[in-house]
Amino acid sequence: MDANHANRCIGVFDSGLGGLTVVRRLMEEMPSEDIAYLGDCARVPYGTKSAATVRRFAAEDAAFLMRFNPKLLVVACNTASAYALDDLAERFDVPIIGVVVPGVREAIAAAVDGGPVGVIATEGTIASGAYQRRFRADCPDREVLTASCPLLAPIVEEGRDQDDPIVLRVLGEYLHDLQRARPSVLVLGCTHYPLLSQAIGKLMGPDVRLIDSGQAAALAVRGYLLDNGMANPGPGAGTLRCYATDNPERFAAVAQRFLGRPTPNVTWVGTDELRL
Ligand code: DGL
Repeated sequence: MDANHANRCIGVFDSGLGGLTVVRRLMEEMPSEDIAYLGDCARVPYGTKSAATVRRFAAEDAAFLMRFNPKLLVVACNTASAYALDDLAERFDVPIIGVVVPGVREAIAAAVDGGPVGVIATEGTIASGAYQRRFRADCPDREVLTASCPLLAPIVEEGRDQDDPIVLRVLGEYLHDLQRARPSVLVLGCTHYPLLSQAIGKLMGPDVRLIDSGQAAALAVRGYLLDNGMANPGPGAGTLRCYATDNPERFAAVAQRFLGRPTPNVTWVGTDELRL
């Protein structure tokens, strides 16, 4: 590894600002790393789009981040991880870590009782079968229960509290079957769901362990950088640069809830500029 490698940034992209929940975990785990983040706010949601469209958008997002010469790319978006990770790995000569594989690994490690495992995510992530395939590959005997929850991401962005009756009503509908099946773990397979973890935990009960796929991905990134001598040793805090393909003012206003701290300046980048 060349000496400058450690000083290069980590590139992170998502369909919008939800991926900042993953950035938050990356910053907690690796405070000295510089991060360049792209939120494709002009084309969000990815969760209802076709596989081909998500793959195209993901390739454009990743290509944009390659301008910063990153040492590693993080696909913070579950839907893009589910549909596009293999395609990105073929296109770009940089290590790429998504959220699906780390999420499944952590879920399997936590599901010690052998019971079923649950996954909640966008329509696209569930339809792609990526979580189900990965569970089958890593732990073939495990029953995998899934529920797509398309309304949750917009509800979270709207800023409703976790005890808001609308939030609880919607969650109650989506989690109904999972509550009855009582999985030992439930993977939060969407960038936005960690912001509802208290409400989800309350509805599922104390015996169901919630797995934040973004947090699992942050730990996987940390492990990868340390194992390969690529971690920035510090000292000093890393920087965060944010780019949004639409409405950077809204991005900045909403982002703090996802990031857990004030967001730095957000720069607009047009989707025309992203086209490959
Ligand atoms: N970031 C997306 C995900 O994690 C959720 C929002 C969307 O549908 O684009 O799947």
